[in-house]
Amino acid sequence: MAIYKMNNIDRFDRRIALTGGAGFIGSNLLQYMVPKYPQYLFVNIDCLTYAGNLLSLKSVEKASNYRFEKINICEYDILENCFSSYNITDIIHLAAETHVDQSIANPSAFVETNIRGTFNLLQLARLRKEIIKNFRFHNVSTDEVFGSLNNSGVFTEQSPYRPNSPYSATKAAGDFLLRAYCNTYGLDSIVTNSSNSYGPYQFPEKLIPLVIRNGLIGQSIPVYGDGGNIRDWLYVEDTCRAIDLAFHHGKSGHSYNVGGRNEIKNLDLVKQICRIMDELLGGEPREKLIKFVKDRPGHDRRYAVDPGRIETELGWKPKYDFVDGLRLTVKWYLDNSEWLESCISGRYQEYYKDMYTNR
Ligand code: NAD
Ligand code: DAU
Repeated sequence: MAIYKMNNIDRFDRRIALTGGAGFIGSNLLQYMVPKYPQYLFVNIDCLTYAGNLLSLKSVEKASNYRFEKINICEYDILENCFSSYNITDIIHLAAETHVDQSIANPSAFVETNIRGTFNLLQLARLRKEIIKNFRFHNVSTDEVFGSLNNSGVFTEQSPYRPNSPYSATKAAGDFLLRAYCNTYGLDSIVTNSSNSYGPYQFPEKLIPLVIRNGLIGQSIPVYGDGGNIRDWLYVEDTCRAIDLAFHHGKSGHSYNVGGRNEIKNLDLVKQICRIMDELLGGEPREKLIKFVKDRPGHDRRYAVDPGRIETELGWKPKYDFVDGLRLTVKWYLDNSEWLESCISGRYQEYYKDMYTNR
């Protein structure tokens, strides 16, 4: 008898393979969806790279509708076995190598996971859609596939793909493969292209948690180039609500841009974080820690996302204002310095050894 029958897995209306659930957005998404949908089973498929942290999932790890499977999405046979054990009905795909700097230093891991891994999942989806009616594949993608903007304009769903970094090129490849599986094999598919998320549980290689950590330990705060690059920030819970809506109500074959209409220059953002930290902790002004360093090669100048489609088609609207979201975020990292340090103490340092010595 199939394992899923023995374990009565079919009592769940949907059995969702959520990949990358131990990462930043994945762990926030599981915290959001697991209690909201007790009728679904969430199978978190994550191989725990340096960026995956099971401490981020403490609040859901014992839930009866949650399971964790330590699997690398590049390993097709193991993945296939897992999919049949749980009789998977849908995929929400977040697992990826995600850090642009690391993609410049070590692109091959990005090609493996973001292209080969996504391809494996698509192949499985193609098989499973023959057994499971309405099998859905939701690819969590990025606004970086659209490339860089000058001073004006915004990314819409019609903007051409012009990825500039190995990271964004591999994410674009994943989106293109999904498009091909939708058009060729009739796979029910959704893409969300979201802008920079921020909030709890983000690995401190990314700008916001890195600034907070360095501000805490009195280490210099590296600002790339002139600090004039612009990102469009969105609180992670709003990103999760967008993914939830698109997964449930998005039109197959559609992509949805997700962003907070919240552009800010890196230098202004860094200064804002320093001010919040000074206010909360006192001490020497942290702005003094800012150090302009060599720019990221091929650094995209500006991102700005038009979320009009997801707003009008699906009724999505961000809940968090940036000032409140940023303050909440800084407070969270100050209150969870143990979590922050758990990221640094482990495999991360080994993985990034060369980058640290070059800085
Ligand atoms: P993250 O780096 O924090 O987490 C990635 C997770 O994927 C980790 O838990 C890691 O262990 C897992 N993983 C990596 N390679 C794997 C493999 N081969 N097999 C199984 N698991 C693997 O990433 P994030 O910031 O949470 O991003 C999640 C997704 O959202 C990514 O696909 C990313 O491209 C996309 N995205 C992120 C942002 C953002 O601002 N963070 C914005 C737009 C899109
Ligand atoms: O736009 C969505 C993307 O946002 C996601 O797809 C990526 O996975 C995610 O990592 C993020 O990419 P960015 O490159 O924009 O994020 P990062 O935090 O690395 O950098 C934000 C900006 O800050 C960027 O312009 C580079 C700059 N920066 C970054 C770091 C780490 C610095 O100036 N100093 C730094 O030390």
